[in-house]
Amino acid sequence: MDAKDLGDDLAKVLVTEAELRVRLAEMAREIEADYDSGEPPLLVGVLRGAVMVMADLARELRFHAEMDWMAVSSYGASTKSSGVVRILKDLDTEIAGRDVLIVEDIIDSGLTLAWLKENLESRGARSVRICTMLRKPEAAKVEVDVAYVGFDIPVDFVVGYGLDYAERYRNLRDVAVLATHVYAGE
Ligand code: XMP
Ligand code: MG
Repeated sequence: MDAKDLGDDLAKVLVTEAELRVRLAEMAREIEADYDSGEPPLLVGVLRGAVMVMADLARELRFHAEMDWMAVSSYGASTKSSGVVRILKDLDTEIAGRDVLIVEDIIDSGLTLAWLKENLESRGARSVRICTMLRKPEAAKVEVDVAYVGFDIPVDFVVGYGLDYAERYRNLRDVAVLATHVYAGE
């Protein structure tokens, strides 16, 4: 779906589909250069938001991109970070001794990713790096080392390209700021 299909639900489009595509290709070239020796990394996507970035990044990469998925609780239907992380779906892959690249849609407070990185390291992964399409630097509550960042954005709540509000807007092609009237009274 396109921004024009959403009437006044969006305050503004922040990153267009075309801009996402260009940046993703640049990130893929960086990733290929960094993992050019040995076995390619296991890509670990965080459900459900990372589905779009994983699909696009994996196809852009010029190596065999093995994918696995985790689901962790973070926001529910709300727009505020709880800081509580719970595994809802774990990996099916044994990662001891492997290079792991976490693929995320967005880093907000950083709490989810900091926890996840440590969790995967504790399973004996050889390395754990993070790739995120979006990051809100001003919302950071913990320091997380992020190897690949698509775009740094302001702290507004955004939707699209996998990001939802109450499971809606994920299939919007662009990344957009949600109009406050959509979640007013929450
Ligand atoms: P933290 O705060 O732990 O949050 O870095 C990461 C997770 O929170 C969700 N999130 C958002 N989802 N629009 C969304 O649709 C946003 O602006 C937003 N900010 C954070 C997201 O699920 C991410 O994985
Ligand atoms: Mg969400």
